[in-house]
Amino acid sequence: MKKDLLKLLDLTSEEILKILDTADTLKDLRKRGIQHPFLAGKTLAMIFEKSSTRTRVSFETGIYQLGGNGIYLSDKDSQIGRSEPVEDTARVLSRYCDGIMIRTFAQEEVETLAKYATIPVINGLTDFCHPCQVLADLQTIREHKGKLEGLKLCYIGDGNNMANSLIVGGLKCGMKVSIGCPDAYRPDPQVLKFAEEYPGMLQVTPDILEAAKDADALYTDVWASMGQEGEATERRQVFAGYQINAEVMSVAAKDAMVLHCLPAHRGEEITAEVFEAHADEIFDEAENRLHAQKAVMYLLMKD
Ligand code: CP
Ligand code: NVA
Repeated sequence: MKKDLLKLLDLTSEEILKILDTADTLKDLRKRGIQHPFLAGKTLAMIFEKSSTRTRVSFETGIYQLGGNGIYLSDKDSQIGRSEPVEDTARVLSRYCDGIMIRTFAQEEVETLAKYATIPVINGLTDFCHPCQVLADLQTIREHKGKLEGLKLCYIGDGNNMANSLIVGGLKCGMKVSIGCPDAYRPDPQVLKFAEEYPGMLQVTPDILEAAKDADALYTDVWASMGQEGEATERRQVFAGYQINAEVMSVAAKDAMVLHCLPAHRGEEITAEVFEAHADEIFDEAENRLHAQKAVMYLLMKD
């Protein structure tokens, strides 16, 4: 049966760790200049209904490095933007391609696409989650800290797609997770319900200093996500103070790393000083999108 990556909730801890191990192996092959065309002749269709820099370039480069080919489809120049049903797009692409990556708004659209597709579907971000980003994040934390289990991961900001995926990925990898967010912007109830399976491992609080206390990794994301541009002014007021800055760093573990999925807004969710002091970690994280997604494509699309 074909496998998809629709959300981290669907994966076991073992499956997540297998992706991370495979990502490390593929990264090592690339660093040593060893060709690895494990998906030679295969094609990945890449549907983008939202903007992207990292996701598009890392998937397209990644499938190329694996010996295959990526096709970029935007809603502006395909029939997807002219209301062709996702059920039909799924069945058509399944006749041509070997995998589909999709970035869109509703998680339901991705789930429907996967239901009708006979080839693997990979979620490249929805309003609900961003699983590929968090796989790269976990790979980066493990690289820098040597382990995941027992570490404290703190996310500060909107209880959005990133917060949702970090909670699920972090808990499944044995991390403690804390979320510092306003009460009206807590993570998705489905994710909070899932966290009940991990008693005492998740803290959600509006107090960012409490959330950041002794954290080994601090994480943040934009205050207004794609699709929320109309709320940007209001959100700037709501989230003022939900920022990774020197004060937050002072209560975290002294060797705490800082991560950001990017794009970043310096002076909003993170100060320029903290961003630049941790730029090596943040750009390692961006690089690992390539390796983590190659691992996902390899594991889902290989014969
Ligand atoms: N972090 C991330 O997904 O970046 P893009 O929006 O540029 O793809
Ligand atoms: N929360 C952000 C993540 C971007 C990678 C968004 O959805 O726009």
